[in-house]
Amino acid sequence: MSKGLYVVGTGTDVGKTYISALLLKALRRGGYDAGYYKAVVSGAPSFAESDAAYVNGAAAVGEPQELLLSYRYAQAYSPHLAARLEGNPVEKSEVLSAWQAVCTAYPYVTVEGCGGIVCPIRIDAAHRWYLTDLIRWLGLPSVIVSPAGLGSINAAALTAFYMKAQNLPVKGFIVNNYKDTLMERDNVVQIQELTNLPVLACVSPNQSDIGLSPERVASLYA
Ligand SMILES: Nc1ncnc2c1ncn2[C@@H]1O[C@H](COP(=O)(O)OP(=O)(O)O)[C@@H](O)[C@H]1O
Ligand SMILES: [Mg+2]
Repeated sequence: MSKGLYVVGTGTDVGKTYISALLLKALRRGGYDAGYYKAVVSGAPSFAESDAAYVNGAAAVGEPQELLLSYRYAQAYSPHLAARLEGNPVEKSEVLSAWQAVCTAYPYVTVEGCGGIVCPIRIDAAHRWYLTDLIRWLGLPSVIVSPAGLGSINAAALTAFYMKAQNLPVKGFIVNNYKDTLMERDNVVQIQELTNLPVLACVSPNQSDIGLSPERVASLYA
């Protein structure tokens, strides 16, 4: 049985892809055979421009394209809207079989979410699916990637509270683009006190290492 970890963000562009690559790099440095999976990406006109291609390159995984990504939409809209315009809506059976395939290839799989926790994945007459559904299908714990700048307490806490209300387990936060200022130091304290979840790592701009041992990173996967 492979172990997995879902990388959720407090929103778009907070660094889920960047942090996913650092998690994979740490695991691989420790000798863990680690792969990556993203069910849905939007705003990627080609595979080469997708999150999956970035992580595969940045963490030197060498994973085959068909294992990395199931659904790609060119337009930078929420997946539910991109699918309405471009066709090819998400199918649960497709995601589950892709997950089986990547788990057959890798004992540790990092799964990147899209957008924030209530990102709509497929909304039509047949289904109403959000990112929470994708996480639940795979039954994985998550880490939440959050900035620590102005406004981040609110988004971080609401993401954690919502995931708790949805019975989705969260291992803690990874703070990204961390600047060690008086405000950011306090925001990190407030986020932990509000949510009762640990901040596992603080990653500075352009930091090339997650700052955790491979064993510590591996311990987050279940
Ligand atoms: N710690 C960081 N240092 C430097 N650049 C970063 C860092 N985190 C994210 N970025 C950059 O910010 C942009 C958004 O990050 P990304 O990981 O793609 O966000 P998300 O996956 O949450 O949408 C990308 O260009 C990425 O390379
Ligand atoms: Mg991303």
